[in-house]
Amino acid sequence: MVVMANEAERRRWNDERFAASWPKREQLTGVVTPVLLEALKLKPGEKVLDIGSGGGGTTIAAGRAVGAKGLALGIDLSHPLTVLAAQRAKDARAANVTFKVADAQHDEIPGRPFDVATSQFGVMFFDDPVAAFTNIRQHLRTDGRFVFACWQPANHNPWHVGTALQPLLPPAPPPAAGKSPVGPFTLGELVHTTVLLEKAGFTGVRLTPHAVVVRASADAVVDAALLEVMGVPPERLDEARAVVTTHLAKFASTQRGLYRFPIAFLVVEATNPGG
Ligand SMILES: C[S@@+](CC[C@H](N)C(=O)[O-])C[C@H]1O[C@@H](n2cnc3c(N)ncnc32)[C@H](O)[C@@H]1O
Repeated sequence: MVVMANEAERRRWNDERFAASWPKREQLTGVVTPVLLEALKLKPGEKVLDIGSGGGGTTIAAGRAVGAKGLALGIDLSHPLTVLAAQRAKDARAANVTFKVADAQHDEIPGRPFDVATSQFGVMFFDDPVAAFTNIRQHLRTDGRFVFACWQPANHNPWHVGTALQPLLPPAPPPAAGKSPVGPFTLGELVHTTVLLEKAGFTGVRLTPHAVVVRASADAVVDAALLEVMGVPPERLDEARAVVTTHLAKFASTQRGLYRFPIAFLVVEATNPGG
């Protein structure tokens, strides 16, 4: 049987329940956008490619930064999130912002060369990261910049509920032969991420750690839809909810219904030397 690249991720991000609950997660990812934009140093007229654009917030912000003579294209594996992003761009009257369903790992994306490729937590899900980073680099002009945000390792992000829920989840299948494990924390190690980008032909790799405390509701971390998509069996959902409540209690704030989540991420910068 031929397994398509990133098939499990394609299924997960196209699950209607999962996609519909994603905007709640944006309470955590959205606070990173200003930090990413500062590192991007976008100039009027530039062409920006946003990888794993999700609900499109970063793409729309990038479109605003490059002005009417520039453009921003968001690409994503998820059809429902791409529909949401396009609607948000329309609502924001962001005429220079478009979205397309595509796999950044191997798809040809119309409009190359781009001046800048970016991503806010959308590049940790490639089952062949070197192939994906090579494809992204080949869509950049010579000296084009790649600037993305990814999570620092899980032990720097104690808000993440994955470890606490582990006993209630089916074991994750091992990656197929020759493929890499995927997941939110796979690019958190500085040396590993630098090596992947250099193997893909990037130079001048620089990683800057950031830490911020985000005030958000519990569903920024997890909600019922996410528990189901993660694979908690229906008969153990009550147990899972109790695990989540105990886990989140550590982050309770004095404001009713709001938590204080310490998030730790990296901003990664690299250059396409051309060739
Ligand atoms: C954690 S979300 C981030 C979404 C958005 N950038 C944000 O910050 O809210 C990751 C996104 O990457 C997308 N994604 C995962 N693998 C991808 C791939 N191979 N090509 C394109 N998009 C991908 C997912 O569909 C999802 O929308």
